[in-house]
Order: sequence, then structure tokens, then C-alpha cells
Amino acid sequence: INSTFISTNAQKADKNIIQKVMNEAYEKFKNDSRGKNADYIPYLAKVDSNLYGIAIVTPDGKVYELGDSKFEFGIESISKVFVLCLALESNTPEEIAQKVGVNATGFPFNSVTSIELQGKRAVNPLVNAGAMATNSLVKVQNGNSKWKTINDYFNRLAAREIKVIDELYHSEAETNQHNQAIAILLQSYNTIYDDPIMTCDLYTRQCSFGTSAKDLAIMAATLANNGVNPVTKDKIINPQNVTKTLAVMTTSGLYEDSGQWLYDIGLPAKSGVGGGIIAVAPGKMGICVFSPRVDQAGNSVKAIETIKYIAEKLQLNIF
Ligand code: DON
Repeated sequence: INSTFISTNAQKADKNIIQKVMNEAYEKFKNDSRGKNADYIPYLAKVDSNLYGIAIVTPDGKVYELGDSKFEFGIESISKVFVLCLALESNTPEEIAQKVGVNATGFPFNSVTSIELQGKRAVNPLVNAGAMATNSLVKVQNGNSKWKTINDYFNRLAAREIKVIDELYHSEAETNQHNQAIAILLQSYNTIYDDPIMTCDLYTRQCSFGTSAKDLAIMAATLANNGVNPVTKDKIINPQNVTKTLAVMTTSGLYEDSGQWLYDIGLPAKSGVGGGIIAVAPGKMGICVFSPRVDQAGNSVKAIETIKYIAEKLQLNIF
């Protein structure tokens, strides 16, 4: 009886601490206006720069939220993490390593130079080239379309039906010639594994999903919880694939700034130019912070600062 009592009280204390640290971070960074909205996709330039939301989800399914945590923004590159998880359902980790690659690039997310210099293929699943190669490796069953397979998978991860933001999709599709060129370049080297233009379109759609910080914290928490969605208890990602995915996030989640991020914060993470960043503290929690102003590399300034503060206060650094 005593030990139950103690552990229940300890859990309560933990919960209070999470909420308290979130509140502190919010107050500390809410007026930080460094960075600016990504504008190479017209829709993103129009999003209110002052939006700021934080969400944390723990393995027991508890959701902590603050600020604009329910605002739906473009998932963008964060989608790459979960399409990798999906591709690992129908490809072995070795196949992904050989056909896509799993090394850091040190180059920007849409770099063609990295393809030319680093093996005539993508370098990892979290740069644009690798995300398209990974998307092209997703195999579908039961006669479903590849798009339905991806959307269904994301719905299970987010524990609700998520939809593409049509205006964002059209805005991206009209301006994604560079990504089309990357897909065709990969085709010339036989390192994309389905039709390149169709694959680029599916990739553009997956980047245009409208997700909130809460949705993405649930998805991150699924990675923190060995592949089991903590809200629905649905076993979505094979635990072995979780470790592979977290490894790639650790080396490459914030593009050319991944080393600095790891040095400062020490958590597997992934950013998107829509202003979201997810971070995973294995066994402890999934975190998502959203705020649209991004830095040179395309990473949300406020999200970096906020997660850094939370990770320090809650001692989440995996090293
Ligand atoms: O392919 C693109 O350019 C966008 N749809 C996504 C890029 C992105 O989010 C890079 N992030 N930091």
C-alpha cells in the first residue's frame, strides 16, 4: 500500500513539473521574434508569425498543452519520419540503408550537390531526395492506393483523421519544380523506386498534411513509447523500426544543424519549415513545439529554444 501511495504521489509530482516547465518556457520565449516565416512556399509566408503552441504526451497517454497547440499547420518535413516508419513495414532496415542511405549529409535539405557527391543517391530519409526515395519504397496492400495507405497510417499515428490543407498543397505543387528535378535526377541514377513525378506529388501531399502540436506530440510519443500510440494503445510501429527511425532523427533531424542541436539538446528530433519541431525522449515523452519563424536552415527558432529549456529542466538529454 505504501509503495503504491508513494509512486502515485511521485507520478503526480512529475505531472505538475511538466506543466510548470511548459508554462515557464512559454513565458520566457513568447516574445522572441527572431527568424521569419519560410516564404519559398507562398502559403507558409502568410501564416501568423506569432502563433506559438506547445504539447507534450507521456506514455500513459496524458496530453499537456499550452498556447496554440490545436492550430493546424503544415507538417512539412516532419512527415518524412513517419513515411520512413511506414516504408520500414515493407522493406528491411538493410534495404533502406542500401537504397536510400542513413548517413548525415551536412548539406541543406534540398541539396542536389549532396546527391552528386555522396553516392548518386539520396543520403538519408530525412532530406528531400531521401524522403522521396523512401516514399517510392512504400508498398501497398489490399488494392489500396499509396496515398490512402499513407493517410490511414498518419490517422492512426495522430489518433484522429488528418487532412491535407488544400491551399498549402496547391501552393507547394505550383512551386515544387526543384523537388521534381531531384526526383528525376534520382531516376537517372536508378535510385528512386517508383514513378518520380508521381512520387514527388505524393511527397508534396504528405508535406501538406494539417497537423497541430497536439497531433504531432502524440505521434512523437508513439516513438517514445516503443511504437504503441499512448492515447489509443494501437501498436503501430515495430519496436525495432522505432530504434532505426530514432537513429536517423538523431543524426539528421535538423539538417545541417543536427550536430548543434544534438550538442545542445541531446534528443532525436525532426523539424519542418511550417514551424513545427518534434522531439522524442524515449520512454518518457513526445514533445512538439510550433511557431512559424524559422532560421537559415529552416528550423523554428522558438521551437528550438523551448525544447532546449524543457529538455534541460526535465533532464531529458539521452547522453
Ligand atoms: O520539400 C519541401 O521543400 C517542403 N515541402 C518541406 C521541406 C521542409 O520542411 C524542410 N524543413 N525544415
